[in-house]
Amino acid sequence: MKAFVVEKYGKDGARAADVPEPTVGARDVLVRVSAAGINPLDKMVRNGEFKQILKYKRPFVLGHDVAGVVTQVGSAVHGFKVGDEVYARPRDLRVGGFAEFIAIDADDVAPKPASLSLEEAAAVPLVALTAWQILVERAHVKPGQKVLVHAGAGGLGSTVIQLAKHLGATVATTANTRSEELVRSLGADVVVDYTKEDFSKVLSGYDLVLDSLGGANLEKSLTVLKPGGLAISVVGPPDAGFAKQLGAPSVLGLVMNTLSRKIRKRARALGVRYEFLFMQANGSQLRKLGALYDSGKLRPVIDSTFPFDQTLEAMAYVEQGRTKAGKVVVSMVPDGE
Ligand SMILES: NC(=O)c1ccc[n+]([C@@H]2O[C@H](COP(=O)([O-])OP(=O)(O)OC[C@H]3O[C@@H](n4cnc5c(N)ncnc54)[C@H](OP(=O)(O)O)[C@@H]3O)[C@@H](O)[C@H]2O)c1
Repeated sequence: MKAFVVEKYGKDGARAADVPEPTVGARDVLVRVSAAGINPLDKMVRNGEFKQILKYKRPFVLGHDVAGVVTQVGSAVHGFKVGDEVYARPRDLRVGGFAEFIAIDADDVAPKPASLSLEEAAAVPLVALTAWQILVERAHVKPGQKVLVHAGAGGLGSTVIQLAKHLGATVATTANTRSEELVRSLGADVVVDYTKEDFSKVLSGYDLVLDSLGGANLEKSLTVLKPGGLAISVVGPPDAGFAKQLGAPSVLGLVMNTLSRKIRKRARALGVRYEFLFMQANGSQLRKLGALYDSGKLRPVIDSTFPFDQTLEAMAYVEQGRTKAGKVVVSMVPDGE
């Protein structure tokens, strides 16, 4: 089958290849991929940024978001049948959406929201699961709380704004001038144009901040929290909780605690909290999210769609920061069909 594989780590490490179709385990479903979403994580994995913790055996197929049709069901799988339209963020070490077929653990898969096309559905899993895991699982956001979502026009930010609003929060976001209308339409109550204003000078008393930029942005984010507030970063630095999530030896927990010592100390001094979050595959959360898409509470924001053959171009487009807003998807369906 046709696929895009990482052969060697680095900027030029991904290429088109002909690879064997995946073998289907007892707990897997085989999915014929209709569309795949592009995420910054694809580039990071291709570059080997996670090679110490995600030990992929090269060559491996890249791609963290898929939507498609079930063509085979493992002997131990219940709840899916051949012909079902599904979507998934396959778990780490079993990714591979940039291919004609992918075998996915059925626990990571959910029925595609009926109201979305397969292309739209491919834009959803990774960012929607991240939003859920930040707002619902980790921060337990309640109606009336104040949530600051950085980079609101991005694939992640555009989803987090919508879910935070659905949960009843007052939502602030940072975005550039041309994205203001979009982020307001997604539910942002307060928009700070990061090209003109410093958010930390105009916002205060927040219960939660999602940081997806890191560095100085994260440090400043701590100052807009109310006492006891929580800053969650999805770009780091990692903390011991992440090592625990990975099931890594305790020494790695110590290393990660060291990496985040400065920001945790700064947070403590301000009377607030800092946590790192790395999202996880989860089919049952995708089912709950699917219901929110079908009821119109959430909608995917798609910047552009590329044909599957141009997957590397689609990755480059995202990597070069050329998206105007939302997600980039690659589609197996040739133009005009
Ligand atoms: N740890 C995890 O589980 C996890 C999960 C999802 C995402 N992430 C990470 O989160 C980051 C964002 O992901 P994404 O999918 O949303 O990427 P994306 O779609 O490429 O979006 C990035 C956004 O950042 C905006 N931006 C750039 N500089 C900004 C600034 N100074 N202030 C406010 N916004 C700014 C860009 O807007 P402009 O158009 O103005 O440039 C763009 O909308 C990536 O680093 C990704 O790896 C981590």
